[in-house]
Amino acid sequence: MGFLADRKAGHEKACEDAIRAGDAPRARMHAAKAAEFCFALAAQSQGAVAASYAATAEGWLEIAEKLASAKLPKTAGAGAPASTPAPERKAAAAPQPDGGGEGGDGSQFEVATVPDVSFDDIAGMDDAKAAIMEMVVYPMREPDKARAMKLKPGGGVILYGPPGNGKTMFGKAIAHEIEAPFFYASGAQLRSKWHGESEQNLSRLLKAASSRPVAVLFLDEIDGLLPRRTAGSSVVDNRIVTQFLADVGGFRESENALLILGATNKPWAIDEAVFRTGRFDEKIYIGLPDRAARLGIVERAFSGVACEGAVDFAAWAERLDGYSGSDIAGLAKKARQIAFRRSIETGEEPEVLAKDLEDAARTIPSSVTPQMVRQYEEFNRQRF
Ligand SMILES: Nc1ncnc2c1ncn2[C@@H]1O[C@H](COP(=O)(O)OP(=O)(O)OP(=O)(O)O)[C@@H](O)[C@H]1O
Ligand SMILES: [Mg+2]
Repeated sequence: MGFLADRKAGHEKACEDAIRAGDAPRARMHAAKAAEFCFALAAQSQGAVAASYAATAEGWLEIAEKLASAKLPKTAGAGAPASTPAPERKAAAAPQPDGGGEGGDGSQFEVATVPDVSFDDIAGMDDAKAAIMEMVVYPMREPDKARAMKLKPGGGVILYGPPGNGKTMFGKAIAHEIEAPFFYASGAQLRSKWHGESEQNLSRLLKAASSRPVAVLFLDEIDGLLPRRTAGSSVVDNRIVTQFLADVGGFRESENALLILGATNKPWAIDEAVFRTGRFDEKIYIGLPDRAARLGIVERAFSGVACEGAVDFAAWAERLDGYSGSDIAGLAKKARQIAFRRSIETGEEPEVLAKDLEDAARTIPSSVTPQMVRQYEEFNRQRF
C-alpha cells in the first residue's frame, strides 16, 4: 500500500505545483492520476478507510474536470524552468520569522502587535474570565510553574458562542494580559479558491506565529477553515484539516509558547478531530452577557455622555436580558444618535433622554433567539 500512497502523494504535489505554474493541462493530468491512485487505495482498503479514499478520489476527479476549462493565473516565477518549481521560489519570499517580510503571503494576515484591549474593558463575564485566567493566562505567565505541574503553556483553545459577545475581545485581551503579539486571520481570509493555496497560507501563518517566544494566534470563524469532514467534503477541505492537525501537532513539541485561539459561532460544524486531545484541549463558552456585563456595557456606552436623570441603567440592564453584547452596544449608539439628531434640529445641547432608549429599543431587537441559545446548551451537554 505504501507504493500506491507514495504515488498518490507525488501526483497531488505535482498537481499543486502545476496549478501554481499556471499549467492547467499538466495539473489536470496529475489530478486524474491522483484520483486513479486513490481509487486503487480504496480497492485495497475496507470500511471507512475505503470510503474516505473513494471520496478523495472523487474530489480529485472534480478538480481534474474543473481544470479542463480553467484559465490559471500565472504566479510569480511561473515562467521558470521545470527544475525550479514556483512553490520553492515563493517559499523563499515568505515573511521572515520576525514578521518583517513584505511580499510574502503570510504577512498579509499578521497584525503582530500587542493589542490594547484589556480584561478591564470586558464588562462582567466573570465565569469566562476566571476560566480563561486559569486555563490560558496563568500557564503562559508562569510557564516554569506550569511545566513543573506537567501543564504546557499555550496549545489550542476554542472560544465559542453566539455572535457579538466578546470572543474577539477576549482573544485580544488575552494577548494583552500576557503581553504577546496577536496574529489574526479569519477562516474566509485564509481560504483560497486555488487548491493548495489555503494550506500554504495556514502553514505560513502558523510558522510565523510559532517562531515568536510567546504569541497568540487568533483564528476567527474556525468552522469555515476546519469544517467537519464528510464523504461529500471537497478535497481542499480535507487537506486543510489534515495539514492543520499535522502542523499544530508539530508545534506543540516546540519550546515556544504559541496559544492558538479558535473562535466560532458554530462549534458543531468543526471537524471532530480538531477537538481531540492534543490539539484543542480547552473549550470555553462565551455566552450572552450576564446582568453585570449588560450593566457594564450600558454604563460604558454612556460614560461621559449627557443623560437625563430619568435614564435608569440598572433597569435597562435587567430589561436587555437575552440581548448580545453587540446588540446592547448598538442600541445605546442608536439612542445617542437620536439625541444628537434632536439637538441638531432644535439647536439645543445634546442630551440622551429616557425616551431615546425606548425608541432605540423599538428598532433594535435581540439578534439571538432562545432557540439559538438552546442549541449551544445542547452542544455543551453533548460534547463536554
Ligand atoms: N462583555 C462585554 N463588555 C464590553 N463590550 C462588549 C462585551 N461583549 C460584547 N461587547 C461589545 O460587542 C462588540 C462585539 O464583540 P466581539 O466582536 O468580541 O464579539 P464576537 O463574539 O467576537 O462576535 P462574532 O461572533 O460576531 O465575531 C464589542 O466590540 C463590544 O462593543
Ligand atoms: Mg469575533
